[in-house]
Amino acid sequence: MDNRFLNIALPKGRLGEKVYTMLESAGFGCPGVMDNSRKLIFENVENGVRYFWVKPSDVAIYVERGAADLGVCGKDILLEYEPDIYELLDLGVGKCRMAVAAPKGYVDERERTLRVATKFVNIAKDHYRKAGRQVDIIKLNGSIELAPILGLSDTIVDIVETGTTLKENDLEVIETIVPVSARLICNRPSYKFNSTVIMKLCEALSDIKEKTK
Ligand code: PRP
Repeated sequence: MDNRFLNIALPKGRLGEKVYTMLESAGFGCPGVMDNSRKLIFENVENGVRYFWVKPSDVAIYVERGAADLGVCGKDILLEYEPDIYELLDLGVGKCRMAVAAPKGYVDERERTLRVATKFVNIAKDHYRKAGRQVDIIKLNGSIELAPILGLSDTIVDIVETGTTLKENDLEVIETIVPVSARLICNRPSYKFNSTVIMKLCEALSDIKEKTK
């Protein structure tokens, strides 16, 4: 890690772009970050920041291992993987929820083991353990909504944002597990050694969040 820079991992995609705009308004801009290129790293020597675009589910790994000082990732990832990082701020963007969904009119037969398809194995396990329900968790990597339609599972545990994907596939939310939004996360040693600049960034982002509410 280059100590001249504050290294910030951004999640590729719409959420990352929204968060970068907040960081730019907070005085941590960097030319080129929003250019539509294949380049992954951008640095601004003047204000000492270096950004890189990573797969959203990988942000916490970069931050936990110190390849990034800061990063932005969904609360869903933090709950699922429990990375050893500091969660500094709820950015108030990327709002959605983790929910259980099933085909419309689905009735649970409690004497049977429930088959649950999900990308979020730990969140699903924890949810059903608390509910005292015996489950067979089926780990998938995407298009989770297909599983109950094809009879692979009874229910799914997945992210619901607008609800369109569920609606278009004749599924409905049975229960909400937890609300989700984007969080600013920090590497533990970085927080100790760069606390002044990190606090400054955090406070500026917090002000922007309040102003845009
Ligand atoms: C996520 C999630 C749902 C969808 C929910 O999928 O897994 O499928 O978004 O959004 P909605 O409520 O606004 O329809 P993603 O786009 O990440 O793709 P995936 O199928 O690879 O999980």
